Amino acid sequence: MANDPRAAAHPIPPFPADFLWGVSTSAHQIEGAADEREPSVWDAFTAEPGRVKDGSTAAVACDHYHRHAEDVALLSGLGVDAYRFSVSWPRVNSPGGLDFYDRLVDELLSAGVRPVPTLFHWDLPADLDWLKRDTASRFAEYASAVVGRLGDRVKKWITLNEPAEHTLLGHALGTHAPGKQLLFDALPVAHHQLLAHGLAVQALRAAGAGDIGIANSHGPTWPASQEPADLEAAAFYDVLLNRLFAEPLLLGEYPQGLGELMPGDVSADLKVISEPLDWYGINYYAPTRVGAPQGTEIEFGGITMPAELPFSVREIEGVPVTDFGWPVVPEGLTELLTTFRDRYGDRLPPVIITENGCSYEGLDDQARIAYLDGHLRALHRALEAGVDVRGYFVWSLLDNFEWAEGYARRFGLVHVDFATQTRTPKASYAWLRNELRAQRARARG
Ligand code: FCB
Repeated sequence: MANDPRAAAHPIPPFPADFLWGVSTSAHQIEGAADEREPSVWDAFTAEPGRVKDGSTAAVACDHYHRHAEDVALLSGLGVDAYRFSVSWPRVNSPGGLDFYDRLVDELLSAGVRPVPTLFHWDLPADLDWLKRDTASRFAEYASAVVGRLGDRVKKWITLNEPAEHTLLGHALGTHAPGKQLLFDALPVAHHQLLAHGLAVQALRAAGAGDIGIANSHGPTWPASQEPADLEAAAFYDVLLNRLFAEPLLLGEYPQGLGELMPGDVSADLKVISEPLDWYGINYYAPTRVGAPQGTEIEFGGITMPAELPFSVREIEGVPVTDFGWPVVPEGLTELLTTFRDRYGDRLPPVIITENGCSYEGLDDQARIAYLDGHLRALHRALEAGVDVRGYFVWSLLDNFEWAEGYARRFGLVHVDFATQTRTPKASYAWLRNELRAQRARARG
């Protein structure tokens, strides 16, 4: 806690001097200015009644497109080394769209903040579809256009954000855009995104870019019991969330024969997908407790899961939850990182935590401070255990449009009043600024 004397007596241990500290956002969640770009699948989805819980859209969001200078000042006041934002593909498709990112990159560099763009954070142009293989080639062309314009100043790149969630929520369960409920017929969406990633890595490298990673969402999967049916269900969930997206990249193969279900010449594609990465980004929020199917539809974390899934998600008992109902389990981060290191050994490149954060109401957000404090200590334990972790990015700089939840979930270090667009730094912003100062002082000392 910020003013807790116990925390002062036990400071967060020092991270390496060259550790990369940052915060993350994404284009669709903050930019607004929807009428100054082409539509994305998210615009079409939010226009359908009942899709977004509070009936809101991201047409204005944080109006970051017009207020970027103020937001860059907030980043520089926070003292982060780096800012992870996403480039909107539909904006790049619009006349003058790249100019916005060009200016943003210049402003960040003038403020001493390294730009770390993500090329795809779920806002697919409305006329494209990940079920089609050609979308992967189109993505590589778009990546070439972006690196052609920004590559002289951007030195660190992220291809995709969370292809797992985009596949599962957007195409298997339909709770995110484009709202398809294909269940296991959504698997080609995973393959085409992974192929898009590999082709984009090649395109970025061909343009002279290095230091390329991806932001994959991962978490430990905890079985509901040691009964064989629960163990089997949990192992399957682990395949869907973790192995399906990590192993093609790191090992050049799909887990458990899933490759046979993928379209196209999978073995040739896997060579592209497994282009070596400079680093591996992990978004971590919480572990998942998983048991055998219960034969009924389940509501969990704002998501409805149909009865026919071969697993059921259960509550993790005895831990605090955020205002979103997500369990708070910092030790899950240590477990995840040591598990990945043990599973993949030297096939796992250096890791960067590309997202970690929580949704809480209020400006005096002591619970967010406790969450971040706990996760930084857990991350340090992973370092001590020998995992090569090089950076940590908080989700998120600003309260923003939280997808199907609309504006009801506040993940920001900075509060946004969506009626006036007033930004107000929360207690967690001051806490992180002080912690970064303390980290740097220790690294110097
Ligand atoms: C992640 C998304 C990010 C945000 C956080 C809360 O899954 O990448 O856009 O919604 O969750």
